[in-house]
Amino acid sequence: TPLQDCNTFGIVASADTLVRVRSVADVQDFAASPVYRGRRSFVLGGGSNIVLTGDVVRAVVVKVEIPGIRLLEETERHWIVEAGAGERWHDVVAWTVAHGYPGLENLALVPGTVGAAPVQNIGAYGIELQDRFHSLDAVDLRSGAVFSLDAGQCAFGYRDSVFKHAPSSNGLGMGLAGCAVITTVRLALPKPWKPELSYLDLQRRQQEEGVEQPTAQQIFDWVCAIRRAKLPDPAVIGNAGSFFKNPTVSEDQCRDILAREPKIVHYPMDDGSIKLAAGWMIDACGWKGKSLGHAGVYDKQALVLVNRGTGGVNVTGGEVMTLASAIQTSVYERFGIRLEPEPVVV
Ligand code: EPU
Repeated sequence: TPLQDCNTFGIVASADTLVRVRSVADVQDFAASPVYRGRRSFVLGGGSNIVLTGDVVRAVVVKVEIPGIRLLEETERHWIVEAGAGERWHDVVAWTVAHGYPGLENLALVPGTVGAAPVQNIGAYGIELQDRFHSLDAVDLRSGAVFSLDAGQCAFGYRDSVFKHAPSSNGLGMGLAGCAVITTVRLALPKPWKPELSYLDLQRRQQEEGVEQPTAQQIFDWVCAIRRAKLPDPAVIGNAGSFFKNPTVSEDQCRDILAREPKIVHYPMDDGSIKLAAGWMIDACGWKGKSLGHAGVYDKQALVLVNRGTGGVNVTGGEVMTLASAIQTSVYERFGIRLEPEPVVV
C-alpha cells in the first residue's frame, strides 16, 4: 500500500501490510488475529510527525480511523470532551470552541489526529496537551486488553510521553511504543476559562487589534493566522512541523553561551532550566532557505524542514536525514548543543 498520502512530508514509501481500524473492536480483532502474530506494528495517525526512511515499512501499519466527538460530562470545574483517536485534532479544537467549551484554542491548526496528540504531548502558544488532558483509552496489542491511562501514567514531558519509548526487552518496562493503540482521548477543559496570552506573537496580535478581553474564538483565529503566516501548509509544501526539539540547558551553560552569543533567543523554564530556540540557532548558522538534494529548510521558519521535490521527483527520508545531520553538525560546532529530532524516524 502506498504511504505517500499518509505522511505530510509526502515521502514516497509503501507499507508491506496496512490495516485500517475504525473501532475498539477492530483493534482487538487485529491484536487477536493469528495472521499478524509475532510481527511488529507501527501505529499511524495523521502522519504529520514521522519521517519514513525506507522504501518499505516492514512493520504492520495500523491506520487509526476511530471517529466521534462529544461532551462526555460537565462538572463544576471542567467540561470533559471525549474524542475518537481518528478525528483530526484541529476539528476537535474548532468543535469545542464553537460549542462554548473553550481551552484548546491555542492548539488550533496543530496537524495530526487526536490519537497522536498524547504521543508527543503536542504544544503551542503556551499550552501543552498535558494541561488539558483527562485520560485516554488504548488497546494493548500484546494481550488485546483495553486499558486507561491518566496524565501521570502517560509520563508527559516536552514533546514526549510513554508512547515514544520502547518497552524494555522483557516487555515489562515503562515504554509503550509499538505495543498499544490509543482509541479514545478525554480532555478536561477548565471552568472558568482564562485566556493564555503569554506568547509574544499573541500579545502582538492583541495590541494590533486593540482587544482588551479576547474571546476563545478570537484567540483561535489569531493562532490560525499566526501559524498560516509562519508554517508551511503540508497540503502545499510537504513537512512535519518543527524538525528539532528546542533544547534545554542549565543556567550555567546558558550564561556561557550568552557570553559568546548575546543574541540567542532563550526562555527560563519553571524548573530553573533554560530553553533555547533551535529555530534561531539554525537560522544563525545560515540554513534558512537552503537545500540539500530535495530536502530544504523552510524560508520563514528554520526549524521546519520541507520537501522541495518537483516534477514527480520527491524527497526521500534519507535526504531529509542527511540535511538534518548537516544542520546538527553546524549547530554543534557553533553552539556546542546537540539538537534532537522531534518527529518519529521510521
Ligand atoms: N526564530 C528565528 N529564526 C527562525 C525561527 C525562529 O530567529 O528561523 C526565532 C523566533 O523569532 C523566536 C524564536 O526563534 O524568537 C522561537 O520561534 P517560534 O516562536 O516560531 O517558535 P519555535 O520555538 O520555533 C515552538 C514549537 C512549535 C510551536 C511554536 C509556538 C517546538 C519544537 N516547536 O516553535 O511547534 O507551534 O513554538 O508555540 O517546540 C511543532 O512541534 O511541530 C511545532 C510547530
